[in-house]
Amino acid sequence: MSEAELAEIKRAYAARAQAPAPAGPAPAWKRVGPAAEVPANGMKEFSVGGVNVLIVHTGDAYVAFQALCPHETIPLEQGIHDGSVLTCLEHLWQFDIRTGAPRGDALEGLRSYRLKEDGGELYVALEA
Ligand code: FES
Repeated sequence: MSEAELAEIKRAYAARAQAPAPAGPAPAWKRVGPAAEVPANGMKEFSVGGVNVLIVHTGDAYVAFQALCPHETIPLEQGIHDGSVLTCLEHLWQFDIRTGAPRGDALEGLRSYRLKEDGGELYVALEA
């Protein structure tokens, strides 16, 4: 193999290594509603394509979770959060407000959904 061929192979390899990774399928965003409908530092349940989704305003961001408590399917909208922990008031299961992970006595976490805000509207991706 000539020096020129070797240089060409190296150049092609370097170019491929710098190419952006192929993107996965784009999420199918579903409109939730106006962000303004979610109380500041509060929570609101929405029906999105037949799925009930809890939108939480954490103080500086919005996050989306399953709407019902995994313990006994009580609406989490009736609970409270302090900006870091969401508490279901029925039996006090708690969840990390950023990730939905169980805290304290909770035996299960919350399913979370990807969320984006665009032009004052909230969108979630319901697929895994
Ligand atoms: S129903 Fe939520 S903690 Fe029991």
